[in-house]
Amino acid sequence: MDFLSQHVIPPTGHYMMLLEFLAVVVYLVHLPYVGAVVGSTALSMWLSFRDREIPDSRYSRFAGDLVDAVLRNKAAMFVLGVCPLFVLPFVYVEWFHGVDASPIRYIPLVIPGAIVGFGFIRLYYDSYVERRHRFGYHMLAGLAGIVFLKISYFILVATVARLHDPEKWFRVKDLFVMLLNWNAIWKFAFLVHASIAFTGVAALYLFFVVRRREMQRDPTYSLFVSRFSAGLALAFTFAMPVYYLLFIFTTPDVALDNVIYVLAAVVCAVAMLIAQLLIAVLRDGRPRALLAMTLFVAIFAISSTVDLRAMANANAEHFHLVANKAATAYALREASLEARMKAKREGLTARAGTITASGGALVPVGERLYKMKGCMACHSIDGTRFIGPSLKGVFGQRITVVTDGKPRQITVDEAYLRKSILDPNADIVSGFKPLMPSQAGIVDDSEISALIEYIKSLR
Ligand code: HEC
Repeated sequence: MDFLSQHVIPPTGHYMMLLEFLAVVVYLVHLPYVGAVVGSTALSMWLSFRDREIPDSRYSRFAGDLVDAVLRNKAAMFVLGVCPLFVLPFVYVEWFHGVDASPIRYIPLVIPGAIVGFGFIRLYYDSYVERRHRFGYHMLAGLAGIVFLKISYFILVATVARLHDPEKWFRVKDLFVMLLNWNAIWKFAFLVHASIAFTGVAALYLFFVVRRREMQRDPTYSLFVSRFSAGLALAFTFAMPVYYLLFIFTTPDVALDNVIYVLAAVVCAVAMLIAQLLIAVLRDGRPRALLAMTLFVAIFAISSTVDLRAMANANAEHFHLVANKAATAYALREASLEARMKAKREGLTARAGTITASGGALVPVGERLYKMKGCMACHSIDGTRFIGPSLKGVFGQRITVVTDGKPRQITVDEAYLRKSILDPNADIVSGFKPLMPSQAGIVDDSEISALIEYIKSLR
């Protein structure tokens, strides 16, 4: 993670929005998919188990169909399950650019954990045909897959929950401290219930929309599948609003706003709508799969929007800072490009990369920094004295400064300006109170060079 943070540039405002969009898309395809994989593995395990205790061909057929419909496709597992895992850490590192003491360092743990989980799920799928001879092995593979995926996603959920609570980041000393968090536990409980309910709805969809023909041929089996899936989905849909509200109520105040309350109410209302729909399915056996599926996707979309909004609320200051830093970085780069173009125009031969921005090209960058970094609050550029002296025409002037209590005459040069910014109270311009605070944490080296060029240009 440290390596990553050193090598990614700070994101600008527009880029942040792009990342947000990317995160919603990833959450929208990835979370439902993982939910369906875990849910159908668990469900087929239970069906196989029941069929072994009390042999029933409907149970074993349903287990087989479920495994076949959800787990068979290797490409889907790679594209929807594994690939997004590599996008998420990148998005979070970009968002939390420059923050080191934060819980995001645990996000990369999710990648190996989930990959091992998917590996076990594949073993489970591959051993399905020979389950009668190697029942223990088959079940163990399924169980290991579920456990690995659950642990990995709990880490992800707990990390994201902590990101909604920047004031408590310092308490996150190790992984276990981070995991002990009610907010994360409620959110995870919501996701687990949602994933099982979603599996029921996805089964309705896969059997009655994708494989409609097959189902029409066998009305008894078809009725069994629709009743079973709808019943399962219904039981778990009822619990969703409860856990979602517990999650919202344990979210720290800094992360909440009215929009989030409204969206949370919408999540609960849509869950109740799905429950209504499922009750109707149980009554008449008509599967209404497409509508239920659409409503479920809406729940995933709204709840990931809530997450992103909560994170943005809780970290507004940080995001503002990052965008500012990016603005400076881009301005510096532009200035450097301009300087290079100018050198080219003037026929100078320079090896590529040796010219960095310097001289006049930095003036506009410096001007921007003067406004952005708060110098403007204490210094004018038109000769008026504010809290500090005006910066107009100071360069090259002979002035009196007090060093170690003794006054002395100096000529303002670049070295003096640099020192005035980093360590302003070494040489004090007499007659000012309060003194200037050091700007060392506020501007970095390249920014100081730009500020100096700007001050030199003020005549
Ligand atoms: C809180 C008010 C305050 C802020 C903010 C501030 N300064 Fe100052 N600055 C002063 C005061 C007061 C002095 C004179 C006393 C001293 O030297 O400490 C001063 C002195 C200076 C001097 C020496 C000027 C001279 O005439 O010799 C420079 C150069 C300077 N500041 C640059 C900056 C820059 C660049 C920034 C922004 C990064 C900045 N200051 C931000 C208050 C401030």
